[in-house]
Amino acid sequence: MRVEKLTTTIGAIVHGVDLRAVVSDQSLFNDIHELWMDNLVLFFRDQRFSPEQQLAIGETFGELHIHPAAPYVSGNPALMEIHTDANSSRNNGAVWHSDVSADETPPMASLLRIHRIPARGGDTIWANMYEVFASFSKPMQEFLKGLHAVHTANYSGFYGDHLPQRESPSAVHPVVRTHPVTGRQGLFVNRGFTKQICELEDQESRSLLSLLYKRVEDSVYHCRFQWQENSVALWDNRCTQHLALWDYFPESRSGTRVTIAGDKPFLEL
Ligand code: SIN
Repeated sequence: MRVEKLTTTIGAIVHGVDLRAVVSDQSLFNDIHELWMDNLVLFFRDQRFSPEQQLAIGETFGELHIHPAAPYVSGNPALMEIHTDANSSRNNGAVWHSDVSADETPPMASLLRIHRIPARGGDTIWANMYEVFASFSKPMQEFLKGLHAVHTANYSGFYGDHLPQRESPSAVHPVVRTHPVTGRQGLFVNRGFTKQICELEDQESRSLLSLLYKRVEDSVYHCRFQWQENSVALWDNRCTQHLALWDYFPESRSGTRVTIAGDKPFLEL
């Protein structure tokens, strides 16, 4: 195994690993898990596996999460379809977000394999939410730690004719959360789902969220990944958020995402 770090704090390409092996090799799983906790997002090139094998890899990390509304493949709602072509009016992940943060227990991880790529473009960018939080002054960090926010999803009309799997969720989460494995604190609000800071008036909430989002969008906290056919990304939704660029219209880009269920976010003071 060879690890190529993309930046000093987020993102690493892991070479020399066939991800299918983590299903039966506990020591490889432990190594990958440790690397993942250190790098937040891991990338693997040239991974050839079936939808069933992708499900099995996802299940080694935990119970699978079902997206409330997205189309899926192979008749299995745990296999979310990621697809954009000349007929699309939007792409998945076009706004900075942490996957389905509007769920009461948002997913901890996502495992995406892209099997069809455009000739150019279609990169995905991830932001390190530990570093974003740490970049604020201590008084600001203390203020943020006292706040909660409403996260709401509204998928109506989002996925065309596909009928939703369940109602669009809504939940209140702390604005800063403690990662249950690393114990580190990270900012947990995102443009895609966060609607309002509970403790603030509307205008205060809008101004604060826009200040926080501006920091998330600062490229010093990012890694950017250029997909190849059969690349896989494994990201941690508890301490990252991401943005999928749609700069390849009218070309197609397709993949399958398996998402792993998570815990109720909490802040340990
Ligand atoms: C997503 O899961 O948000 C989409 C990511 C991507 O297509 O790169």
